Amino acid sequence: MLNGTNLPALLDYLAARLDRQVAEPLHRQLYRALRQAIQQGLLAGDTALPASRVLAQSLAVARNTVLHAYEQLCAEGFCQTRVGAGTFVAAHLPEPAAWPARQTAISEALPLSRRAAAWLDVMGERVESASAAFAPGQPDLAAFPWLVWWRLLQTQQRGAQAGDFDYREEGGHPALKQALVGYLQLSRGVVCEPAQVLVCSGMQQALDLLGRALADAGDTVWMEEPGYRGARMAWLATGLSVCPVPVDEEGLDWQGRALPVPRLVYVTPSHQYPLGSVMSLARRQALLAEAARQGAWVVEDDYDGEFRHAGRPLAAMQGLDSSGRVIYLGTFSKVMFPALRLAYLVVPAALVAPLRLLQARLYREGDYTTQAALARFIQEGHFGSHLRRMRGVYARRQAKLRKVLEGELGEALPLLGGEAGMHVTARLPAGWDDAKVSTLLAQQGIAAPPLSAYCAAEPPFPGLVLGYAGVDDASLMLAAVRLAQVLREMGIRSSPIPR
Ligand SMILES: Cc1ncc(COP(=O)(O)O)c(C=O)c1O
Repeated sequence: MLNGTNLPALLDYLAARLDRQVAEPLHRQLYRALRQAIQQGLLAGDTALPASRVLAQSLAVARNTVLHAYEQLCAEGFCQTRVGAGTFVAAHLPEPAAWPARQTAISEALPLSRRAAAWLDVMGERVESASAAFAPGQPDLAAFPWLVWWRLLQTQQRGAQAGDFDYREEGGHPALKQALVGYLQLSRGVVCEPAQVLVCSGMQQALDLLGRALADAGDTVWMEEPGYRGARMAWLATGLSVCPVPVDEEGLDWQGRALPVPRLVYVTPSHQYPLGSVMSLARRQALLAEAARQGAWVVEDDYDGEFRHAGRPLAAMQGLDSSGRVIYLGTFSKVMFPALRLAYLVVPAALVAPLRLLQARLYREGDYTTQAALARFIQEGHFGSHLRRMRGVYARRQAKLRKVLEGELGEALPLLGGEAGMHVTARLPAGWDDAKVSTLLAQQGIAAPPLSAYCAAEPPFPGLVLGYAGVDDASLMLAAVRLAQVLREMGIRSSPIPR
């Protein structure tokens, strides 16, 4: 048993779990190590934790690192501070249901590798309920034209030849690549030949492929901060060093900062994830010039650019690129459904052959009959009409969400983004702990991930990411009213919007 007075044993335990080589901040590592010790009963209830100064000195970390970890443990109910006495393990731990399921499932006898534990931490602690408001990134599955899709799938499966079920190395079904080129040229301003398209099993696989194929372990990737956790996870898993770069209202804001030379630059220029800014034309051109100067690849993630609700549609950066540096990524997870696991890369001609081969050898290729059905879905116009319909549905849903939240809280809860996509980000009052707010909401069945979970360092401000696409209007409105109620209970003051 560890305890606060058996300091050497506790220090050994904690020191073995701090790794300065990984990107995960030390305060997170320390927090995780302490939480694990508490959850596993190694630190019993009511145990006094060492004074922050003592622990910081012994572990050779900043005192703030310890304070931060202690604060997080207190916020989650694992510890308590007692005035004048210090920080103690809580006598009664929070309900196991509030704990991350994976932590309780990981057996001591079969621990994860340290890198896997660090990756899991990047993904946040709670597995958000995909079916609840406001889980971000969830399309409305009830509105998908399933009958048409099943009919096309069946037709393809019935007519399939033996070869359709074999290993393939063509980078995707030719008909799907052809259909995609037509769509991308027209709708997204992407300039490409079908040969430049590689169909893969979801964007996550595309990111993993690029991390392995275009960079070596230890190379730097510039990544938007806040940014998409799936991408950060992929970069870390491929051994890259993630350099967080702030974003402003024009997108990635690297100018005038001393940053390591990047091998990859990952951006979401059509709709910054999650803050929602659209990268200006000037910034796109400057970034392309910077990438050329530094010899970097630009990875353009256009995950939901199809759903543009306001403002002038900007064509993809790929269409502006004259030096063959941009790799354009799109996914069918939002415009069709996530379980389809189909996404695509549009790569410069020089990368086609090596990436195809690497894709086929690293992961094998996917199911060509499903890809053929998807090609038909696009060619027969079902894709276009589903997109148009959902664009309208999502725009109306966002407008309703805004109306309810503005009506309830006025200016006190500014909503950022929303020109495109399926989510907005609500800005909480300065000084609020967004993780705590998110946990409280989760206890009420509301999924609203904190903005801090999308950041490698301190968030620019506290916030909540609110997906509005995946649930019906009535559930969305109810959740919005409940959200406002919870925030009011926490002390937010509604202030009317001046008209
Ligand atoms: C920024 C971003 N990129 C990509 C994806 C989709 O990835 P996948 O194709 O792996 O479902 C998401 C999903 O939420 C996303 O938010």
